[in-house]
Amino acid sequence: MQGSGNVTLVVALAVGVAGWLPSWAQEAPADAGERSFVRNCLVCHQADAIGKVGFAPSLTNPELLAVSSEKLLLATIRDGRAGTGMPPFAHLGRSDIKAIVKYLQSFAKGPSRAAEIDAQAAARGDARLGRVWYDQICSTCHGANGDGYAAGGTGTAIGMAGFLNSVSDGFIRTTIKHGRSSTRMLAFQGPAGLADLSDREIDDIIVYLRTLPSARN
Ligand code: HEC
Ligand code: HEC
Repeated sequence: MQGSGNVTLVVALAVGVAGWLPSWAQEAPADAGERSFVRNCLVCHQADAIGKVGFAPSLTNPELLAVSSEKLLLATIRDGRAGTGMPPFAHLGRSDIKAIVKYLQSFAKGPSRAAEIDAQAAARGDARLGRVWYDQICSTCHGANGDGYAAGGTGTAIGMAGFLNSVSDGFIRTTIKHGRSSTRMLAFQGPAGLADLSDREIDDIIVYLRTLPSARN
């Protein structure tokens, strides 16, 4: 009966230590989503998912989390973005990916507005004009064909299928209007914006992006 005595002693010690440790130390083992983020994502997206210029975007800025539905985040993590540095993580399984999404959403400043944003009307505009705005304003960061970091830019691959096929026009429109705080993606509408594009001009750009050859796969 010596074995069971040891077990009792160990359990008693564990309970005793847990009761004695300060509360922050008891909470130290992070939640499942944070642990999985650290194991799988931190190498590129950095500690606290703040991102790294020209390498991986921030996953915690409030604007990204406000425009992203849970479905979009789950699909982006599961499928990655083909042709970019974002690999697929389907092997983690749905519940692990869900836990990571929950962890990321804990950085949100308010509820997701994705339902309303994704229901916005599709962009209507002139792709030729959109190209002019894109080449003048966006291409330095996002690459001449929207291939992002691969073109040496600091912005993501917004001209490629992996992005365009999974986001709504409302997602793109809202991002262009309001930018993403604490990143190089500034707002492009309003007096404080990097440029003051009209709604029409923003739609011209979205229509242009969707005509790029790399937008199809
Ligand atoms: C090898 C580096 C790498 C790893 C590891 C990685 N990512 Fe990414 N991730 C990227 C890059 C690069 C992009 C931007 C791709 C592009 O240009 O569109 C990205 C984009 C994303 C986006 C879209 C963000 C946006 O602004 O729309 C999400 C969400 C994301 N990653 C989540 C994750 C999660 C969660 C993990 C871990 C399970 C992960 N990533 C692991 C490199 C990585
Ligand atoms: C000064 C550089 C810069 C300029 C100019 C710029 N962007 Fe961005 N953009 C970025 C960066 C950087 C990100 C990703 C934020 C991050 O790194 O966390 C981004 C993100 C985006 C996203 C979200 C992509 C995603 O993966 O979720 C869209 C859409 C976008 N930009 C569109 C545009 C358009 C359209 C223009 C031109 C009107 C433009 N950007 C001009 C740097 C720039």
